[in-house]
Amino acid sequence: MPAPPPSLPLMCPRCRGQIVSDTLGWVCLGCTAKYEDAEGFVDFLPEVHEPPQAGVGAAMMERPWFARIYEKYWRPFYTSVSQGESASLRAEVDWFDDQFSELRGGTCMDLSCGPGVVGRRLLKLGRFDRVFGLDYSAAMLRQCLDNSARRGVRDFDLVRGDAARLPIRDASLRAVHAGNALHLWPEAARSVQEVRRVLEPGGVFVATTFVNGEGMRRLVGRGFARATSIRFFEPGELETMCRAAGLVGYAARISANAIWLRAEAPRAKS
Ligand SMILES: C[S@@+](CC[C@H](N)C(=O)[O-])C[C@H]1O[C@@H](n2cnc3c(N)ncnc32)[C@H](O)[C@@H]1O
Repeated sequence: MPAPPPSLPLMCPRCRGQIVSDTLGWVCLGCTAKYEDAEGFVDFLPEVHEPPQAGVGAAMMERPWFARIYEKYWRPFYTSVSQGESASLRAEVDWFDDQFSELRGGTCMDLSCGPGVVGRRLLKLGRFDRVFGLDYSAAMLRQCLDNSARRGVRDFDLVRGDAARLPIRDASLRAVHAGNALHLWPEAARSVQEVRRVLEPGGVFVATTFVNGEGMRRLVGRGFARATSIRFFEPGELETMCRAAGLVGYAARISANAIWLRAEAPRAKS
């Protein structure tokens, strides 16, 4: 497997030191931590073999069989349940592209990329110089590599890491997409702060996740969130989280129990 190109703005998540490639993968010049890329992605969680939290939802993301069925069966199923009849991947990507309309070039991260369903499409838009994926789950990343290989996609580089401790340098990204993932992040507020940290001035964050609605409350109740580790946000909670992280220009679109949101890093003062 080819190693990700040194052009990715990586840093050591433990000490924030500079990392450089060596024969086995990558090494931190600050704390000397080593990170391998033998599987085709740089692994910043080399000793972690468990999901980031308890619950069925988090556990499923680590299962190879689930990673295999996610893109073709599971995602279309749950997006149609959460968004209602209007669910369409094409509409989702078009909406992201609209939010990115002022951006050209630079680097876009598909945060919690899963098997790459949206990341590959963001790459295809051609808006950014590079698009790479980051996920906690090695099973998802392996599936993502497989999906890219079968479709002849060569330039969707992958990193294994934690949204709450991104191995990415400050102000190095023009855009971050986090599709259907916020509700699974155990440290959602801290992860949104991390998104803010890695965005350039004027860089755009787009995300899709779940919000509470009357229908959903009746259907699943509160016990569902506890058992599955899947969280349903109050719409205002997400705006507060983005603002608290220092993001501005919050806008959102809600359809049934799905929310699509955007916010951006403040632009540099001229
Ligand atoms: C439901 S999938 C979403 C996949 C894809 N982004 C999409 O739009 O369909 C959620 C992903 O979030 C990842 N994830 C969960 N917790 C994470 C964390 N703390 N850091 C990074 N990724 C995480 C899971 O491994 C999983 O691949």
